[in-house]
Amino acid sequence: MTITTCIFDAYGTLFDVNAAARAAAAEPGRAALAACWQALAADWRTKQLQYTWHRALVGEHRDFWQVTGDGLDWALERHGLAGDAALRARLMQLYRVLAAYPEVPPMLAALKAAGFNTAILSNGAPEMLAAAVDSAGIGAHLDDVLSVEQVGIFKPAPAVYRLVTERFHCPARHVLFVSSNCWDALAAQAFGFQAVWVNRAGEPLDRLDHSPRATLSDLTPIPQLAREY
Ligand code: LAC
Repeated sequence: MTITTCIFDAYGTLFDVNAAARAAAAEPGRAALAACWQALAADWRTKQLQYTWHRALVGEHRDFWQVTGDGLDWALERHGLAGDAALRARLMQLYRVLAAYPEVPPMLAALKAAGFNTAILSNGAPEMLAAAVDSAGIGAHLDDVLSVEQVGIFKPAPAVYRLVTERFHCPARHVLFVSSNCWDALAAQAFGFQAVWVNRAGEPLDRLDHSPRATLSDLTPIPQLAREY
């Protein structure tokens, strides 16, 4: 067996980042959000990620909870909802406890049963990752939850991926790295991991020199891939 360690991105990969806006839009009294929640969720995610890249390049790090709130504020303003403080608070509350995709618990359980190390490597701040892992009930299937807060810079800085090889004392090529963010998977592949891109939305490949080792439409085949590589 070559792969010893299976590492997962959190937001968008294990946890559905659209779940917060979708759930809030279904609540009573949320007609304005119900009319735009998909576009708002997409803008929220785009701005959240843009701010991580900007902060990493400029060297002005703030944690992912702050950046997530900043991205939400931009998206609420764009959709004419900036004045709704209760909605903002509700969306942030829901973001702490995002639903995991349905295949996540059995997939992680299968990896642990087969003897692989398993962990999250995420931009997320430790407290928000702990809340999401807890609410998804997947903590027992994870050996660790690694946060960029340990190095104070966001993905795709190589220092972030190095957290994995240092924590598990393994060569990069023995790591299967799984992300739904193509740019994250490609940076991980460049670092030396065996990267799997989970392309749920059928998006084009990012033009960033590298290719993922595999592309999947969901996480179900991961235990099989980990055994084969
Ligand atoms: C993460 C973001 C990139 O969890 O989704 O690191």
